[in-house]
Amino acid sequence: MLQKEAPFDILHYLKERRALVDTFLKSYFDNPLQPPVLYDAMRYSIFAGGKRIRPILMFASHEACGGAPEDIVPQATSVELIHTYSLIHDDLPAMDNDELRRGKPTNHKVFGEAMAILAGDALLTEAFLMMTVVTSHGKAVKPKYIMNAIRELSLAAGASGMVGGQAQDILSESSEPDEHTLQFIHLHKTAALIKASVKIGALLAGRKGAILQALTTYGENTGLAFQIIDDILDIEGNTEELGKSAGSDVEKHKMTYPSLIGRDESRKKAQELVDEGIDALKIFSSEAEPLREIARYLLKRRT
Ligand code: IPE
Ligand code: IPE
Ligand code: MG
Ligand code: MG
Ligand code: MG
Repeated sequence: MLQKEAPFDILHYLKERRALVDTFLKSYFDNPLQPPVLYDAMRYSIFAGGKRIRPILMFASHEACGGAPEDIVPQATSVELIHTYSLIHDDLPAMDNDELRRGKPTNHKVFGEAMAILAGDALLTEAFLMMTVVTSHGKAVKPKYIMNAIRELSLAAGASGMVGGQAQDILSESSEPDEHTLQFIHLHKTAALIKASVKIGALLAGRKGAILQALTTYGENTGLAFQIIDDILDIEGNTEELGKSAGSDVEKHKMTYPSLIGRDESRKKAQELVDEGIDALKIFSSEAEPLREIARYLLKRRT
């Protein structure tokens, strides 16, 4: 008799993959550094929580390409270090000037601006070291694939990616919103790192060609939708649930999707992007189910 397959449990999947990241982070940040305050500042933001969505996307993409998540835990965790550094710097008085992050006072509120800047610098640099780590669990990934991954991450995190987007975000405060600039900001400040996480999952499995292209389309669409939802949550969400101050974008006169096309149209656009992203995965069968479900989950998220 044919057994009916159990429906995919996204919450269980997210929890299990998240645990891989958190367990690795605990052992990685187990040896105190000098000076202790720098180490405390790094650990403060890393262990403040966070959805760990970028590493989870890397695992899911690697699994869609036939890989095992256990084999790429350091590489997946490395994008979380870059993401966390970007949040510490994003919250600084010279940038978004926010006081709450991941349910706690922002890094600079606790450690001061100088230490927050340095903790960010240290996490960014540590990420590239972590990319090269080989653990005793899982199979060793080929050095050539690690090189490809580091290249991808460098492009996505730096001036041609996230940092470029953050720069345009700051330059566009109080400007009249326009589609071209807004798309540039969102594709760079947020979608670049999300897309890279998905691509790296495939690169670490040695994939290229049509498979890599399909995952790139999925990653970019999901990344853009992710920032549109972030913009909507900034208006609709509440500070307690978000763990960061709601209403920050209006206060800073940020260029956002709701400021350009309104909330309803923004939600529609995010839905369309997710649909297109999932459609790009049609060359996969059930092995891409986690990726499909993550995209649907990100659309409904409230935090
Ligand atoms: C927040 O990212 C910053 C953006 C790029 C929109 P997340 O919503 O992934 O934040 P955490 O990691 O869960 O705190
Ligand atoms: C942040 O965008 C993108 C980053 C690269 C950190 P936002 O400024 O909208 O992120 P939040 O809302 O503060 O998390
Ligand atoms: Mg910002
Ligand atoms: Mg911000
Ligand atoms: Mg935001």
